[in-house]
Amino acid sequence: MRHDPEPRGGIHPLLAGRFSPHRFDPAGAVDDGKLNLLLEAARWAPSAGNSQPWGFHVSRPGEAEHARVLPHLAPSSARWAAGAGLLVVALTRRHVGDGDLQYSEFADYDLGQAIAHMTVQAQALGLAAHQFRAFDLEGLAEELDPAPGWAIVSMVAVGRAAEEAPAVRPRRSVADLLAAPWTEAE
Ligand SMILES: Cc1cc2nc3c(=O)[nH]c(=O)nc-3n(C[C@H](O)[C@H](O)[C@H](O)COP(=O)(O)O)c2cc1C
Repeated sequence: MRHDPEPRGGIHPLLAGRFSPHRFDPAGAVDDGKLNLLLEAARWAPSAGNSQPWGFHVSRPGEAEHARVLPHLAPSSARWAAGAGLLVVALTRRHVGDGDLQYSEFADYDLGQAIAHMTVQAQALGLAAHQFRAFDLEGLAEELDPAPGWAIVSMVAVGRAAEEAPAVRPRRSVADLLAAPWTEAE
């Protein structure tokens, strides 16, 4: 990947300051008020036809629901996610309708926007969020047993970051964002 020398200056500090920590402060609890604000932020995301296809399973260390999720983390994510103040399992309703379930082509796209809202709200609360796919999807789906039509897509660890953002954070350039769709891959 090309490294982007462009500074982040100019974008909102909540966006510029966001990063995905690999260490969370075990003392950084996410209280009920903050949890409600994170869910409220997700609730106000835009979605195709205002379908709002997202759903969440939330749990915090010490809670019975947390103990259901922990065994399904991959070793790579368990190292930092297990100690975060909050674990969110993000689900979307990909299939809708009663009889023949219809596939909703924007369900995953809309969930991503809701999670983006959540991560920015976390930043505004002095928290940090690290999204991840490093978990046993089949095992977790079996454990949580969502209703027909619903699919687990990703997870998010939220808490107080116990490290600074890395000095080097590779990003494609703005010019590449505009040109890549019309450029042959190297
Ligand atoms: C859908 C999704 C899945 C991800 N899966 C993982 C993961 O399994 N493990 C991990 O350490 N980070 C994971 N990440 C975090 C990304 O690696 C991270 O956002 C990216 O490297 C950019 O870093 P930043 O968020 O600090 O800017 C995931 C992010 C997204 C959005």
